[in-house]
Amino acid sequence: MKEPVRIAIVGATGYTGGELLRLLLQHPYVKVVHVTSEQSSETPLTDRLPFLGGRYNLILESFHPDKVAKKSDLIFMALSHTESMEAVRTLVEAGKKVIDLSADYRLRSPGTYEKWYGLRHSQPSLLKSAVYGLTEIYRSNIAQGCLIANPGCYPTGALLPIYPFLKAGYLDTTREIIIDAKSGISGAGRMPTGKTHFAEAHEAMVAYNVGAHRHLPEIEQEIYRIAGRRGTTLFTPYLLPVNRGILTTVYLPLNRKLSQKKLESTLDIYRDEPFIRRVAGSPNLAHVKGSNFCDISVFATASDRMAILMSAIDNLVKGAAGQAIQNMNVMMGWDERLGLMAPGFFP
Ligand SMILES: NC(=O)c1ccc[n+]([C@@H]2O[C@H](COP(=O)([O-])OP(=O)(O)OC[C@H]3O[C@@H](n4cnc5c(N)ncnc54)[C@H](OP(=O)(O)O)[C@@H]3O)[C@@H](O)[C@H]2O)c1
Repeated sequence: MKEPVRIAIVGATGYTGGELLRLLLQHPYVKVVHVTSEQSSETPLTDRLPFLGGRYNLILESFHPDKVAKKSDLIFMALSHTESMEAVRTLVEAGKKVIDLSADYRLRSPGTYEKWYGLRHSQPSLLKSAVYGLTEIYRSNIAQGCLIANPGCYPTGALLPIYPFLKAGYLDTTREIIIDAKSGISGAGRMPTGKTHFAEAHEAMVAYNVGAHRHLPEIEQEIYRIAGRRGTTLFTPYLLPVNRGILTTVYLPLNRKLSQKKLESTLDIYRDEPFIRRVAGSPNLAHVKGSNFCDISVFATASDRMAILMSAIDNLVKGAAGQAIQNMNVMMGWDERLGLMAPGFFP
């Protein structure tokens, strides 16, 4: 029996950190050995995450990159954006594999990062070597990577349905792609704010950062890389009063008329993907909750050259921790489904 791969989770007390811990319990080849928190260092992990009671016996420690590098083989960084940037370099230089769930290594251009995150990127050369971790699209690069920039939750929900149509060359790049996406409150992290605490969000629904959300440049960057042409994307995110899930609707301009049958067959590219399910009718957040699935559907419209695409993901799983584990499995050459699908589900 081989030694398990030693895992550290930096920012273990947040929503995505907790989700990594939940999912990794069912992974046969890894052991979480180190967990960090700044607010609660030196306290038991399960004091902050009581739902894991009896499953972990770890003490939270404050984050020191050298210590993390010494204790672990692979590190999940689950910190707020801008907090990972410096530390990741120490970890990569120590020869560790790193999967960063924040936005710090997603945007390839340091100038774009500075524009949207208000901070000069201090690691432009490392940024160049980071691999964008949308598993279904960049699998072979991820397998070779040391630093994976795990995608944002909205970009995951939008890009997965769009990708087959870009790849097939069906996008009309002279018209705008319109994306409408509704996210559960956990997308904003564990710390409540004036907009996200219960009394504000319950029985309410509101759009925010209309046309100017930080995930927009990430979505546009990937559309450009896949389609090879710059287009314009209009993106409106909404807060949905549920804990988890993102329901995305994409209005996609096509450069030719495509029948419903042809639209559906374009999704055949995902035929062998374990975590992409094609559904008839609208995807439903309830059907992906807690899972790494991305449910996708496509609809022809009366409008001549326009299709409607829809997807549903759990923002904390396929939109964050689940996709990060999927990426770890690819990096390590393991079955992608490990830790994410009960063995009984494997064909
Ligand atoms: N939530 C989602 O749906 C989602 C989806 C995709 C990507 N992401 C990204 O994943 C990252 C984590 O998101 P989250 O929702 O899990 O956030 P969160 O719930 O706010 O948790 C943040 C974590 O970072 C720790 N932390 C905060 N400031 C720190 C600092 N200066 N140094 C070290 N640790 C610090 C916190 O620890 P203490 O408070 O215990 O000190 C906590 O464990 C973010 O970059 C987010 O954008 C989130």
